[in-house]
Amino acid sequence: MIKKKNLYYPLDEIKKRAWANNPQIYREAAKNPVKFWEKLAKELFWFKSWKKGFLHKAPYFKWFLGGKINITSNIFEKNILGFEKIKNKVALIWEPESLEEKPTILTYGNLFRKVNKLANALLKLGVRKGDRVGIYLPMIPEVIISMLACARIGAVHSVVFSAFSSQALKVRMEDTKAKVLITSDGYYRKGKIINLKQKADQGIKGTNVKKVVVVNRAGNKVGMKKRRDFWWKDLTEKENDWSRPKVMDSEDLLFILYTSGSTGRPKGCEHVTGGYAVQAYWTGKWIFDLKEDDVFWSTADIGWVTGHTYSCYAPLLNGATFLIFEGAPNWPFPDRWAKIIEKYGVTTFYTAPTAIRMFEKLSKSLLKKYSFNTLQILGSVGEPIDETSWLWYFNEIGKGKLPLVDTWWQTETGGVLITSLPGMGPFKPAFTGLPFPGVKIDILDEKGKSLPAGKQGALVILPPFSPGLLRGVYKNPKKYLKTYWTEYSKKVYFTSDTAYKNKQGLLRIVGRVDDVIKVAGHRLTTGELENIITAIPNIAESAVVGKPDKIKGEVPVAFVVLKKPKSQKKVKKEVNSQVLQGIGPIALIKEVFIVRDLPKTRSGKIMRRILKRLFTGEALGDLSTLANPESVEVIKKQLKNSL
Ligand code: WT7
Repeated sequence: MIKKKNLYYPLDEIKKRAWANNPQIYREAAKNPVKFWEKLAKELFWFKSWKKGFLHKAPYFKWFLGGKINITSNIFEKNILGFEKIKNKVALIWEPESLEEKPTILTYGNLFRKVNKLANALLKLGVRKGDRVGIYLPMIPEVIISMLACARIGAVHSVVFSAFSSQALKVRMEDTKAKVLITSDGYYRKGKIINLKQKADQGIKGTNVKKVVVVNRAGNKVGMKKRRDFWWKDLTEKENDWSRPKVMDSEDLLFILYTSGSTGRPKGCEHVTGGYAVQAYWTGKWIFDLKEDDVFWSTADIGWVTGHTYSCYAPLLNGATFLIFEGAPNWPFPDRWAKIIEKYGVTTFYTAPTAIRMFEKLSKSLLKKYSFNTLQILGSVGEPIDETSWLWYFNEIGKGKLPLVDTWWQTETGGVLITSLPGMGPFKPAFTGLPFPGVKIDILDEKGKSLPAGKQGALVILPPFSPGLLRGVYKNPKKYLKTYWTEYSKKVYFTSDTAYKNKQGLLRIVGRVDDVIKVAGHRLTTGELENIITAIPNIAESAVVGKPDKIKGEVPVAFVVLKKPKSQKKVKKEVNSQVLQGIGPIALIKEVFIVRDLPKTRSGKIMRRILKRLFTGEALGDLSTLANPESVEVIKKQLKNSL
C-alpha cells in the first residue's frame, strides 16, 4: 500500500485489478442515487423490469416497484457469468471440523441440482410462496442448499444460529409461525457431537411446526417422530433435479432474520428479494472484488447476517468460489484458520476483530509457517477494530500490501453500507471509511443538526437509504417505527451507533448508544439477558452491562439484587444455567456481582450507563438525578475489593 499523510492507498496492481477504481462512481451516485442503483440493478436478471425505482411513504419505502425476480435464477441459470461458464466451476468448499474427514466440494451445477431436489421436496411437504421455513443447521453445505431451496420456491427462510438454545429457537418459531423446520441430527464442535435434533425437538414443542427435515450429519442417535420427521436423504433422493423458479415481486420477502433489539424480545428483520439481491451482488463485487479464480472465506456463522450475505448470496451471485467451515478457527490447534487459508489458497479473508485479536496473541514463530501469499483482500466486520489490531492484521497477515476493508453494517441493512473500496481507498486504521456509492449518511447532534468533521454524534442514513435496508419488523410495525424512525423523524433511519467523520470524510464508528452490547461481534441485548436472569426466583433485580475485554471487545457482567442471601458462586452458576437455556453459550455471564441496590433514576429506570463507567474508568457524571446516588459508592467499593 502507498502511505500518504497517515492514509493508505492501494498499489497500482490492485487498483488495476479492481472492479471499482474510478472515483467518478461516487460523484455519479451522489448526483442521483436512485438512478445509480437502478443502473446497478439492471445487471441482474429480471423476469420483468420495474416501473419505478424508489417509492417513499415514510417510514416505509420500496425499491424496483413492479420488478419480478428470483434470486436463485440469478445465482444459477442466469448467473452474470453465464451458466455454461460456471456450471463446472466450484461454488462451495466445505471444510469439516475433523481433520480426518474429507471436504465437500460442490460445483454450481451440483449445487443447483441439490437445491432443486430440496425445493421439490419442500413443495411436496406443502410449502408455498410466502410460507416461513425455519432453518436450524450448523455450517454444513445443507444450510446453503436449504436457504436457496426456499428462495427457489418463494418460501421465506428464517435461519436460527445452531448454538442458540431450544428456548431461543422456540421464540423465533412462534413469531414466524413456520410450518417446516430443517435441522440435523447433530454436528461437531471442538471434537464433541452436539445433539441438535434434541434441541430442535424441545424448541418446536407447542409451535406451528408440523414437519421436520433432518440432515444426517453426525450420525448420533436421534428420535424420529412418525409422519413429522423425515431424513433429508429420503425426501430428496428421488426428487426431480429441476424446479421452476417462483416469480417473485421485488418487494416479496426473501428472509426474516432475528436480531437483538433494545428491549427484551428479538426482532425479525424483514429482507425483500429485489433490493437485497442488488445490494448483495454489488457489495460483494466491489468490496471483496470477487473475480473468477478467487476463493472467498467469510468466517461468520450462517446464523448471522454476515453469513447470509457473504457466505451465501453475494459470492454466489458473483459466480465466485467460497468456503464454509464447520468448526472453530482455533480448533484443534490455534492456527487452524491459517492452515485453511493455506490449504485452499484463500484470496479474500473476512472476519471479526475478536478473531483478529485472538490471532494476534499467537506466537510469531507459529505464524512464520505461513506466507499468506494467496491473500488479496482482508476484511473486518462486527465491531470497531482498534488501531493496534488493525495494524497487526494489515502488517502481519497482509504484509502491508493488501487493502483492509473495515465494513460497517447491521442485520437491518442487509449488506455493507460503509467501507472504503479496495481499488480506491483511502484506508485509515480504526476508521471504517467512506459510505458505499449511492448511500447517504450523516452525523447528527441531539437536535438533528448535521455535525462537522471531528464532532461525534448519531450515525443516520438518509433517503433513498439503500435497496437492502429492512422493510419492517416482522408483525411488529410499532417496533419498526419506534426503533428506527422516531429518534429524528420518519424520514431518517437511526442506526443506534455513534460516529464521527474526519476531514477526508472517513467515518469512525464509536459504538452503540442503546442497550445492545457486542460480545465477540455478536449482538446481545442487556434487557433480554436481564429478563432471563430475573426469572430466577431468588433474584429480585438485575442489570447487565458490557465490560471491556481484550479479546471479545465486551463481555456481559451482571449486577443482581437477591431476595435471600446465597453464595456468589452458587448465584453465578444459577444465572449461567438460565442464560444457557434462554440464549446459548455466546451469552454466558462473565462475572456476577451481588449488590444491595442498583442505581436508578427517580422514575425507576436502572442506570446501566453508570455501572458500565465503573469498568471503563470514565467520569461517572452527574449523579444527582438518581433516586439513590449512594448505591453507586457502595458498588464502587465492592468492585474495588473484588477485582
Ligand atoms: C452493529 C450491528 C454487520 C454484520 C455483523 C453485525 C456494529 C458492525 C462494524 C464496524 C464498528 C461495527 C455496530 C452496528 N458494527 N460493523 N465495521 N465497525 N462497528 O451485525 O449484529 O446487526 O450488529 O455492529 O454497532 O450497529 P449486527
